[in-house]
Amino acid sequence: MGSFSGKRILVTGAGRGIGRAIALAFATEGADLILAARSTGELDEVAGEARALGRKADVVPTDLADRSAVEALAAHALETGGVDVMVSNAAFSPTPSPLLDLPMETWLKTFQVNVGAALILVKALAADMTARPGANIIIVSSIRGLGGTPFGGAYGSSKAALNQMVKTLACELGPQGVRVNAILPGPVLTQMTTDYLPDDKALFDYYGDIAPIKGWTKAEDMVAPALFLAGSGARKVTGHLLIVDGGLSATNQDAFPPPKLVAG
Ligand SMILES: NC(=O)c1ccc[n+]([C@@H]2O[C@H](COP(=O)([O-])OP(=O)(O)OC[C@H]3O[C@@H](n4cnc5c(N)ncnc54)[C@H](OP(=O)(O)O)[C@@H]3O)[C@@H](O)[C@H]2O)c1
Repeated sequence: MGSFSGKRILVTGAGRGIGRAIALAFATEGADLILAARSTGELDEVAGEARALGRKADVVPTDLADRSAVEALAAHALETGGVDVMVSNAAFSPTPSPLLDLPMETWLKTFQVNVGAALILVKALAADMTARPGANIIIVSSIRGLGGTPFGGAYGSSKAALNQMVKTLACELGPQGVRVNAILPGPVLTQMTTDYLPDDKALFDYYGDIAPIKGWTKAEDMVAPALFLAGSGARKVTGHLLIVDGGLSATNQDAFPPPKLVAG
């Protein structure tokens, strides 16, 4: 018996990185999973690992940029038994660019994937969640939503919008018994990061040691924060932005991306 036995957890971006780590942690704690992302192969692997733990795991291939696909994901979750914990984790991070040069289509896609899809899921699932004791929502945001993000303005703005949305939803859903919180990672060693950084060991090492707590943050470092926020020990925690960045946002030492990357 794990601490989430009998619970159903929906995770977007569950195929790799932070979403995969969080999904498998819930499965280890006894939960059944609804797994969404675009790449079926990666989702199947995660589902296979969850089933090996004795859990049920539904794979629902979904492009979060497609509103009807997101609605279909929510419908599937409701038809198959509802959701106790929704983890909105997937995100789109455009190629670095000054905001003035960013095509509006890219801005809109960033907001649709990162913010719009999360809200569509909440709108569809919230009524069912109010009937589930302990139901709650975790949004994987970013410390990029806390300040300006030169050359990553669409991503940073979308994360700032999520931080605001988390607090508003916490106020609106709290009286109905649904908690809403966010995890704000700093740089984490996942494919999103390796895609974003050029093939440059010096830059890679720079980010690995940029925070006061040295060494790359791993996807697994998001597991304990997620299990805490989702669990009964956090029953009075809502509207919280839980920063997990090794202390990076506590410093003034932030240059993301540094000039070298921008010049390239
Ligand atoms: N890595 C970091 O440094 C960092 C820092 C702060 C915050 N975060 C946040 O952490 C979350 C997870 O990032 P990560 O680093 O784990 O990234 P990742 O390893 O690249 O994984 C991203 C996941 O999201 C899915 N995804 C991406 N676009 C999607 C779309 N349009 N529709 C459905 N699924 C989509 C990917 O699968 P498919 O490509 O197959 O769809 C994948 O499963 C994101 O919200 C990110 O902003 C990451």
